[in-house]
Amino acid sequence: MKTLFSVVVLFFVSLSIQAEDGHNLWLRGKSSSTVNVVSSKKSVTLDIAKQELQQGWQGKEGSSVVFTVKADKLIKGDGFKLSSAGIQANTDFGILYGVYELLRCQQTGEEIKEGVINPSYDLRVLNHWDNMDGSVERGYAGLSIFWRKGENSLVVTENDKKLWQEYARANASIGINATVLNNVNASQLVLTPAYLNRVKAIAEVLRPYGIKVYLSAKFSAPALIDKLKTCDPVNPEVINWWKAKAKEIYTMIPDFGGFLVKANSEGQSGPQDYGRTHADGANLLADAVKPYGGIVMWRAFVYAASDEDRAKQAYNEFVPLDGKFHDNVIIQVKNGPVDFMPREPFSPLFGAMKKTSLMPEVQVTQEYLGHSIHLVFLSTMWEEFLKSDTYQEGPGSTVARCTDGSIFPQKYTAIAGVSNVGLDVNWCGHQFAQSNWYAFGRLAWNNKLTSDQIADEWLKLTFYKYSKSNADQISFSADWKDNFLSPVKKMMLESREAAVNYMMPLGLHHIMSANEHYGPGPWWAPARTRKDWTPPYYHQADSLGIGFDRTKTGSNAVSQYHEPLNSQFSDLKTCPETYLLWFHHLPWDYKMKSGKTLWDELCNHYDAGLQQVRGFQKVWDKAQSYVDAQRFTDVQSKLRSQSKNAQTWKDACLLYFQTFSKMPIPYDIERPINNLDELINNDMKRPSLINY
Ligand code: GCU
Repeated sequence: MKTLFSVVVLFFVSLSIQAEDGHNLWLRGKSSSTVNVVSSKKSVTLDIAKQELQQGWQGKEGSSVVFTVKADKLIKGDGFKLSSAGIQANTDFGILYGVYELLRCQQTGEEIKEGVINPSYDLRVLNHWDNMDGSVERGYAGLSIFWRKGENSLVVTENDKKLWQEYARANASIGINATVLNNVNASQLVLTPAYLNRVKAIAEVLRPYGIKVYLSAKFSAPALIDKLKTCDPVNPEVINWWKAKAKEIYTMIPDFGGFLVKANSEGQSGPQDYGRTHADGANLLADAVKPYGGIVMWRAFVYAASDEDRAKQAYNEFVPLDGKFHDNVIIQVKNGPVDFMPREPFSPLFGAMKKTSLMPEVQVTQEYLGHSIHLVFLSTMWEEFLKSDTYQEGPGSTVARCTDGSIFPQKYTAIAGVSNVGLDVNWCGHQFAQSNWYAFGRLAWNNKLTSDQIADEWLKLTFYKYSKSNADQISFSADWKDNFLSPVKKMMLESREAAVNYMMPLGLHHIMSANEHYGPGPWWAPARTRKDWTPPYYHQADSLGIGFDRTKTGSNAVSQYHEPLNSQFSDLKTCPETYLLWFHHLPWDYKMKSGKTLWDELCNHYDAGLQQVRGFQKVWDKAQSYVDAQRFTDVQSKLRSQSKNAQTWKDACLLYFQTFSKMPIPYDIERPINNLDELINNDMKRPSLINY
């Protein structure tokens, strides 16, 4: 009996050690010693800072940390200064960020560097594409954490507040200080009193963590809400409507951040409906929020159903407006000129608008990168993007420097990430998708960080196994580093290139299946569909070759890049092979740098991508003893699905493109295991959604 009892107890103890569902994210560290916190000032934020420090302290037993809120010229915005005495900052929020920095160093075994640490961007923003009915556009982690449908959907419950607080804490711990609560394809409802009340409640929970709320505004809201006859931005009634709306919002939420706007894009209304420009539209809203210190983030994601290359349109439309935007407008530009593809060159707008504030927009949610099924660490993609040299003000004019105020004086600097957060217990759908939320925050705070460092931190914070024996001293044993940290980090760092390989290598883009953007769909081109919504428009495959000619002989999109990039991308000798088919249409037997034909090289990339994912499965299986059971199985099962999907991508693209190339798939790579007809039939059976 006694033995049975002990077995049962042991079983439950081991279960409780192992039970990790991912809900605690990277915030699993617990204190092993006590710390004394001294603060001359009191505030809710400083109380949080103190509590966090005491909860997570891994430093010397009985140490003292002094919080000093005192202006210092070297400390900018949310920055802070660390010294042996403690943390100094201009604001209470700066102290909180300092606390998280200290704890991160302690919990990852990184040396604590004394000195000032300032953020790269003033505004580090998450964009939630959450709809008022609780669904999330391009969301793969369950329903919205902010909105839901049904009766009482606007009642704020204790559970809501608890979740919002956890969300706020997670964001603050990585430096995010702004959140847009609703979809860019906005509903006017969010600007009506009942919904604004909920926004107010969210703002109250987020405020102590230094996070301001913003809303996506529908340009046609005055007509939709109050039946105004026009939404023309120069109409006095319209101007007054927005002024009154801003006043109403700021009366409820004094620190409201401002608006995000998608206008004249993919069916959304905008100033062009009235013969006005994007500047007229943006300035209308900017003037309304100006008296309260608000800003407007106006998106440059625009493309009309015209014959002009879609990749050129944002530049064509926005560059002529440079200097016409009021100073509290920031133009929000997607990293690439088309749309969050696995790989794109940077958007040529960066650095080209010299008298206007620009902010990068990246996509944390994996719309085109395997949803919450594929393990793809996006940090390497963002690092590549931020470090891209635009040459706009000479060599070294990286996208990072063109947007963080280092080159152009900008009243506000900002960066946005389209969130991957939902109601799933682990927040992001995939345990490893949490690393993308983490990486976005870390890069927004410091756009010079390397993906290696970010992955290292994240893995340590997320997977280090705390137990009784190691709780008082975090030490990463050689065994843990060699057999878990190093191989898993390598997998993360290679994962984006693997996805590019099995989805869209060598500069191919936009060849995914329509609607849900998960699997392959290079064939999809129903009659009467907008051409620039169909993959054949982008890959241009024919019997002669493949690729989009964006040189002088084609759309000449290459001319939007500053020299030497224009020449470099135009010339086949210097165009990076990673962008080859983005800029060139080439014959199937074109000779690549490797000496192989383009066709063979394409086949090799697809196969290599698949083999990489199979390799990831091995890495993860080997890591089993280092990971708690639940998270291990979660990831293992997702990797199996990823492997199957990578196979589908390879087979679909190679068999489809082979109908044009008429060349054999190199005999040294694995044969396809799917039939093209079946793949196409299955793809075409799916219901067609309106939004491509
Ligand atoms: C993509 C995406 C849409 C989204 C749009 C945007 O096209 O598929 O769902 O609305 O981007 O960024 O506005």
